[in-house]
Amino acid sequence: MMNLYQLELFAAVVANGNLTRTAESLHLSQPALTSRIRALEESLGEPLFEQVGRRMCLTEAGRELYDHAELILREVAEAKRAVAEVRALERGSLRLVATTTVGTYVLPRILGTFHRAHPGVTLQLDVTNEVRSIEAIRRHSADLAVLGPVEESEDVVVEDFMPNVLFFAATPDHPLAHQSQITLAELVRHAILVREEGSGTRAVLTRIFAEHDLKPTIAMELRHSAAIKQGIIAGLGLGLLSVHETEVERRSGALVALEIDGLQINHDWHIMHLRRQRLSHVSAAFKELLLSYAAQYGGKPQRSPSLGMARAV
Ligand code: PGA
Repeated sequence: MMNLYQLELFAAVVANGNLTRTAESLHLSQPALTSRIRALEESLGEPLFEQVGRRMCLTEAGRELYDHAELILREVAEAKRAVAEVRALERGSLRLVATTTVGTYVLPRILGTFHRAHPGVTLQLDVTNEVRSIEAIRRHSADLAVLGPVEESEDVVVEDFMPNVLFFAATPDHPLAHQSQITLAELVRHAILVREEGSGTRAVLTRIFAEHDLKPTIAMELRHSAAIKQGIIAGLGLGLLSVHETEVERRSGALVALEIDGLQINHDWHIMHLRRQRLSHVSAAFKELLLSYAAQYGGKPQRSPSLGMARAV
């Protein structure tokens, strides 16, 4: 009778493409591994591998078995995970993905609180842009995403997290720094630092100028909001930043918020996960913590901090 252990060994040989490496990685002798694979072939009545030159290749039966083995082993891993999680969050893992500002300036603090309460849970945070965060959720490579405003759809659920406001930032010696009521037409005459395509901040910036039929003067593309901030401070140009990213710099006067004619840019953060997948105990507990943090911070996203608050004095 074929058993799970044989399937695991078979899948490992296929993944490694080599018996010696597989035997080593599983701390088995090569003859022991070979005899277990033989036993699997015998129980199925079909050879699973064939030698092509010096390479070991799957036979047609082998390919068929591998497709099923992958599914079975994934299911078994799911079952083990579900059982382990029942143990009151003593074990388990949480794979988070977040966009740059919230991932860098907000989530680590909340992860710290979670880790102190559940030290046995393995935490992982991938900090990337909006498009990649959504992809990670759809590909199953993250359990929860924290990101800017996104549409809910058939496959994903999106919930409010916390308010976020973006503003155009400059150094205090920039020609626009002490001007009030700057127009967007004036703004485009100055060099601007932008994020890469796929960034939520980049999409906002593009939309603002497109709505006014204006083209920004792009000085440089930088792939992280922290790099944009440091670029502005280094005098490379203006840039669009979050109030959460700049608390220290606004207080110290290293950065000022430009007052653009009637422009208030709300870019509230949200929590996203797959609709069809039941949230694990760990994910559900972390989501609760996020929401209680947001409640302490200042309630619903609609009550965003105003752009005025962003201005350095
Ligand atoms: P972004 O989002 O990295 O996709 O531009 C920034 C943020 O608000 O975290």
